[in-house]
Amino acid sequence: MAFSLSPELLTQPTPFYHYDLALLDRTLAALQQAARPRGFQTHYALKANVNLPVLARIKAAGLGADCVSGGEVQRALEAGFAPGHIVFAGVGKSDAEINLALAADIWCFNAESVEELQVLNGLAGAQGRTARVALRVNPNVDAHTHPHITTGLEANKFGISLTDLPAVVTQLASLPNLELVGLHAHIGSQITRLSVFAELSQKLNELQSWLEDQGHQLPHLNVGGGLGIDYVQPDEHPIPDFEGYFSMFEQHLVRRPGQQVHVELGRAVVAQCGTLLSRVLYMKQSQQTRFAILDAGMTELMRPALYGSYHHIQNLSSAAAETQPYDVVGPICESSDTFGKAVLLPSTQRGDLVAIRSAGAYGEVMSSGYNLREKAVAVYAG
Ligand code: LLP
Repeated sequence: MAFSLSPELLTQPTPFYHYDLALLDRTLAALQQAARPRGFQTHYALKANVNLPVLARIKAAGLGADCVSGGEVQRALEAGFAPGHIVFAGVGKSDAEINLALAADIWCFNAESVEELQVLNGLAGAQGRTARVALRVNPNVDAHTHPHITTGLEANKFGISLTDLPAVVTQLASLPNLELVGLHAHIGSQITRLSVFAELSQKLNELQSWLEDQGHQLPHLNVGGGLGIDYVQPDEHPIPDFEGYFSMFEQHLVRRPGQQVHVELGRAVVAQCGTLLSRVLYMKQSQQTRFAILDAGMTELMRPALYGSYHHIQNLSSAAAETQPYDVVGPICESSDTFGKAVLLPSTQRGDLVAIRSAGAYGEVMSSGYNLREKAVAVYAG
């Protein structure tokens, strides 16, 4: 179904984010239908969107929380996620953030370096606690996605290098306040080539066997997130291919009896339910280009400026069938403040309402106050 706004929102000041919570519910139902019968548990990666009404639906659907900062751990607790369903990941956790998560008694820390394990051990001891940890490994699997959001290659800063793993496991024996509960990997985001998850599974299978040879049985595996969505045709494919995603792991990941397997998805859960609404401030014609200058910019949605990402753009004020190319840009003082080049739109003019689609993930959370812009409000439907 094509995107439309309810009539009372037509007078809402722009720019604003619109979240279709009914679509979010349908997405969550499809996710759980694919995950649960196959025995997978899903943690939602809060980094994609931290709005409380969004988190409430996600929690109600039975997902846990994957957090990457102390602020996100606090937000997850505030949204009502049980501490036992919260994981804290991240390559640079500060002492204060670790202390906060230890005090909340979250389920697990995904640790990414020897030094982090040592610090975690010290801080846990000081609180008289044992910290459950999963080792985040860098499996050196190419996710075939944008280089800025590839995380599982040797060249990336993330995870423990496979060559360091034996030393890390030896170290663990001298860190009495840590309990090794699992293995974790995350190879990237917006992954559409699902076969990379088979490759990841095979790497994890080898590592799990190796850890067992070292005397470590793992109650828990975490295969990360990264399932991509269809930015080009959001109306045709509003719900990501959860079946394809989970069946990859079902086929290729060797699980031990009773073992818990987590995935941590962000984008696939929330991207399609969010839309950025903006009005055309001015039209401008240069020698070669016709510009539509919006009242939203890279400060509201940074993805196109940062990664050259495509977002589908619609003019909601014009139903004309004939289209022409426009460069759709924002008001910010940067040439990268461009939502799309040569976007085919019906005849567009000042005051038209424009929808920038698939903006629910890594949209509002990445907004900035550059140029002293006010933060766009969020409205919810469904
Ligand atoms: N787990 C870990 C350890 C991660 O680093 C991430 C994302 C996720 C899970 C969730 O990945 P997802 O299922 O959402 O792909 N700002 C970028 C995306 C950055 C992703 C960072 N890590 C964008 O707008 O495309």
